[in-house]
Amino acid sequence: MYTKKVMDHFSNPRNMGEIENPSGVGTVGNAKCGDIMRMYLDIDDDGIIQDVKFKTFGCGAAIATSSIATELVKGKTVQDALKVTNKAVVDALDGLPPVKVHCSLLAEEAIHAALWDYAEKNGIKIEGLEKPKDDIHEEEEDVTESY
Ligand code: FES
Repeated sequence: MYTKKVMDHFSNPRNMGEIENPSGVGTVGNAKCGDIMRMYLDIDDDGIIQDVKFKTFGCGAAIATSSIATELVKGKTVQDALKVTNKAVVDALDGLPPVKVHCSLLAEEAIHAALWDYAEKNGIKIEGLEKPKDDIHEEEEDVTESY
């Protein structure tokens, strides 16, 4: 049911933990399943993501998506990190079962929430970034259907 990559990131998650005094931190949840994901970003003066950590209180797929999402954004510019969509996360894991696609949405939203926090703290506007939701379950059905 799960790909090797999902199992690998679930059993051996990368970048788990937290960053003290992060440039940005974002937390999102899904009220329906009760899972919560938090992302911490350390962004340098050039807008490059130097470090990223996550804490996820959730299912195995949520842990795997958090883990791969940290790898996808690490070393990237803020603008490139915005391109890490839930589809990119699913592709990087070689797929997720349809009922677990919403877990990848948490990863996308948690990154956006952390970027939003970073932008607010620094009084800047990140092109293309919209205010993230705290709870993503309302749009979950639509996203799941597209897979
Ligand atoms: Fe909700 Fe995985 S079951 S995030």
